[in-house]
Amino acid sequence: MSVLSQLSSQGMTPSVFSHCLKGDDYGGGILILGDILEPSIVYTPLVPKRPYYAIYLQSIAVNGKILPIDPAAFKVSRGRGTVVDSGTTLAYLIEELYEPFIRAITLASSKHVTPVVSTSGNQCYRTSISNLAEAFPSVSLNFAGGVSMVLKPREYLIDGGYYNGLPSWCMGFLKAHKRLNILGDLLLRDKIVVYDIVGQQLGWANFNCSSPINVSVGIHERQRSDSSLLGGDMKFQHLATGVAALLSLNWVL
Ligand SMILES: *[C@@H]1O[C@H](CO)[C@@H](O)[C@H](O)[C@H]1NC(C)=O
Ligand SMILES: *[C@@H]1O[C@H](CO)[C@@H](O)[C@H](O)[C@H]1NC(C)=O
Repeated sequence: MSVLSQLSSQGMTPSVFSHCLKGDDYGGGILILGDILEPSIVYTPLVPKRPYYAIYLQSIAVNGKILPIDPAAFKVSRGRGTVVDSGTTLAYLIEELYEPFIRAITLASSKHVTPVVSTSGNQCYRTSISNLAEAFPSVSLNFAGGVSMVLKPREYLIDGGYYNGLPSWCMGFLKAHKRLNILGDLLLRDKIVVYDIVGQQLGWANFNCSSPINVSVGIHERQRSDSSLLGGDMKFQHLATGVAALLSLNWVL
């Protein structure tokens, strides 16, 4: 039903799309239908036959140290696992991951911050330090294929405003209500995120979404063979397969 699958079934674009969400306060970004040329993208396999873009989260590291979590907590099955969802604002972890994760962040930042719990029950931290990278650890989400999404404090914390006279920062990760980890916009901004449906993989690379993105011109080989299976004698024209559009939607925290 989607625009992408219609364009793709007519041989207009490969079944690949990407977005680049601007991480500043004004939102916006770029949506690309088709292949892009960006050498720094790393890929992890998609879980096959899922209604969402599901990937295999295998471990979480805080300041480079892998959290001791029972591997069963990362098990992927129907209704369980990790999905990437640009329609979700923040990030969610199931309880078995959330609790040790918050404990590790709190421990690693204890020298410079005071943990507080916000009125909505979120874990927040008061700190007088303005350079967040000094006060908070880096986080690495590690996925199948040996690739990681590395998050700086600014990429997983949200501004909590003043709390008893000091600036506070709140975790952008919340406890999931269901058995699903969700990686929402908070983690997807300032990156190119590639949904490669043909190749059954999801990729990302840090990127300044105000900069232009190189797109591939011409139908990709894999799509040619793919579509000739479907479309018989379908004739490919030399089309610019990257269709870039500016997103006018603001994403709002
Ligand atoms: C991102 O790119 C824009 C346009 O090229 C530039 O003005 C801006 O300074 C860049 N931002 C960063 C953080 O590099
Ligand atoms: C886009 O491609 C051109 C030609 O290959 C290259 O010179 C340029 O650096 C690329 N730009 C980006 C942003 O990767």
